[in-house]
Amino acid sequence: MRKLDTKTIIVASHNAGKIREIAELIGPLGFSAKSAAELKFEEPEETGTTFEENAAIKALASARASGLPSLSDDSGLVIDALDGAPGVYTANWAEREDGSRDFQMAMEKVEKALADRGAIKPEERSCRFVSVLCLAWPDGHTEMFRGEVEGTVVWPPRGTQGFGYDPVFQPQGYDITFGEMSSDQKHGWRPGDAEALSHRARAFKRFVETCLEA
Ligand code: IMP
Repeated sequence: MRKLDTKTIIVASHNAGKIREIAELIGPLGFSAKSAAELKFEEPEETGTTFEENAAIKALASARASGLPSLSDDSGLVIDALDGAPGVYTANWAEREDGSRDFQMAMEKVEKALADRGAIKPEERSCRFVSVLCLAWPDGHTEMFRGEVEGTVVWPPRGTQGFGYDPVFQPQGYDITFGEMSSDQKHGWRPGDAEALSHRARAFKRFVETCLEA
């Protein structure tokens, strides 16, 4: 496992919600972070069929473009009753013909797909959010960290916080959705904590333990 020996890192993302969350997680660790979006790096095509492949594509593109270690996130919602969909195509389900993204439409698509399969009761709507973080160096070395959080798809959407599919995701053991949680509550983790809640914070905790701690 390679340790991170710089205090500057590039967040290899163009997704505002992810960039904000990673900045919140990384902030207390004393890093200076810039995003690939801010640096106007081209967004690479996500041609992989796994979260790991897509995370590596994004982190390596940014590490090569910047000459600095780069941390990407590839994530998505995996729904059991839909055989794992939307999975790695979670962002695509929100894509409109003009290339813009509409998450209200995406959540409606998910709801329709579940209703079409007769998945109405909470126990028929089990799902998980998955996040794979990839830290890549300019020489091509990569380290991967996966985090998952189990939950249920709820309808109608609830809450206006967070981003993407947060309003329809209720984590196991809670009666509110990620959309109804503050960012701190959704992460459920600060440096030194033994547990984290969100998929991204769980993956991030592994990144800290592997690449930052002695
Ligand atoms: P990708 O990783 O760029 O392929 O996109 C993943 C998609 O999954 C995002 O566009 C979001 O819609 C969704 N997603 C990933 N993580 C979260 C989250 O924490 N909350 C809500 N939606 C998420």
